[in-house]
Amino acid sequence: MPLEIIAMEQVKMMANKLWGGRFDKAADGEMYSFLSSENVALDTALIAYDIEGSLAHVCMLAKQGIIAKKEAGEILSALAAVQKKAGEGKFSLDPALEDVHTNVEAAVTAITANGKKMHTARSRNDQVSLDTRMYMRVAINEVSAALLELQASLLELSKKDCVFPTYTHTQVAQPASLLFWCHAHHCEIERDLERLSQLYARVNECPLGSGAVAGTTWNIDRNYTAKLLGFSAPTANPMDSVGSRGELEAELLSHLYLAMAHASKIATDVILLANKRLIVLPDEYSTGSSMMPQKKNPDPFELVRGKASRMLGLYVHAAGLLKSVPSGYNLDSQESKYALLQGVKTAEQSFSILAHALPLLKFDKEEIVLELEKGYACATELADLLAKKGVPFRSAHSVAGGIVKECIAKKKFLSALSASEVSAVAGVKITDAELKEAVSVDKVARFSAAYKIPAASAHAKALEARVKALDAAHALLEKEVKALVK
Ligand code: ARG
Repeated sequence: MPLEIIAMEQVKMMANKLWGGRFDKAADGEMYSFLSSENVALDTALIAYDIEGSLAHVCMLAKQGIIAKKEAGEILSALAAVQKKAGEGKFSLDPALEDVHTNVEAAVTAITANGKKMHTARSRNDQVSLDTRMYMRVAINEVSAALLELQASLLELSKKDCVFPTYTHTQVAQPASLLFWCHAHHCEIERDLERLSQLYARVNECPLGSGAVAGTTWNIDRNYTAKLLGFSAPTANPMDSVGSRGELEAELLSHLYLAMAHASKIATDVILLANKRLIVLPDEYSTGSSMMPQKKNPDPFELVRGKASRMLGLYVHAAGLLKSVPSGYNLDSQESKYALLQGVKTAEQSFSILAHALPLLKFDKEEIVLELEKGYACATELADLLAKKGVPFRSAHSVAGGIVKECIAKKKFLSALSASEVSAVAGVKITDAELKEAVSVDKVARFSAAYKIPAASAHAKALEARVKALDAAHALLEKEVKALVK
């Protein structure tokens, strides 16, 4: 995504042809560059959607008799020519034309003068809202696919199941298993996917026909354009449609932030456990030091964590645009495009990197057992064993705490205790087998039996259905366009 400000020392313009009727002087070059140079760079991501939206709009204008079928046919074939050029990457946006909407209209009008009729009954305000919703639908689907890939990589990783530590307050807590850890993160991502699915339904309403703010008195058919573009329905209120630009973007970024926070948690666990030498980092996803030859650094994992912070910034940026603006359309909302495009790219890259790196992790089981032993990770099990023998839990907790204190002083692990020692301190009879069962850190099955990662998330099906619906709409639009282009 090209984000650089295009150098435009001075864009000297005649009073703009698009809206210049009531102006005497040309727009100031610096002002124009401020408005448009970054904007057209961002709008490049919207070209395909803008053209598709125009195809549907023109089909509707013809169907409603607002323009003649012959005129529509000419506009549609000009749009198809621009679409082809854009598909080949040969359609670049001119900042002097402000945005993608005007660039497309100008390109069409250069092919056929009927292009001047294309903008009947719409505004760039409903157009940009349409384009960004269409972009967001694809983005939500692509990010969901990346999250599903991350879930699949957790499933893959869980096949290396072994005993695994858990922590609270970054201190060793209780033993668990690698599967248990993978399952926990799988659950987090399931919620991320659910949030995205729910948002998709809100995004999937068509604002086209809302006009600048108050709709239009032309006899348009909003249901028809909504259908041609694969939306579930038209939006309900024109002022809300143009005025809520940025809201869905902020919502998406907030969901992406939560998903990035989950990715960051996974990455941080990997960093910390590699630091303790329990995890061996894959060569393919680590870097070295330019000075210290022995180093193997978890750079991509750190960068995922760093990018979670960027995502929070992008969310705050988009959310901030929503307050203090009055009803209707305001150009402040143009700023949400930057946050949206950056956020989607950042999320996709981060989830993909993690998905590829995780299955390559290796585990040092001896070190893991040592970590758990050193952390007296089975002390809760020991207290529970005493409680099961009739000692009130609070007293059992105290006895087990005393045993841990003693062990620390004697530099001894819980697994080295004898049943007679424990029985004597606790005042209840414990057998060797019972004690062993309680204080063995490596009973993997015990920690894995209850957790199963599903082979396919329910959200994979929902994603498939959404993609299918978009494909079907594409086919329908193509059919309608063909009927008019002779
Ligand atoms: N570039 C604008 C945006 O992204 C498109 C709508 C412009 N509308 C206007 N009245 N200036 O929001």
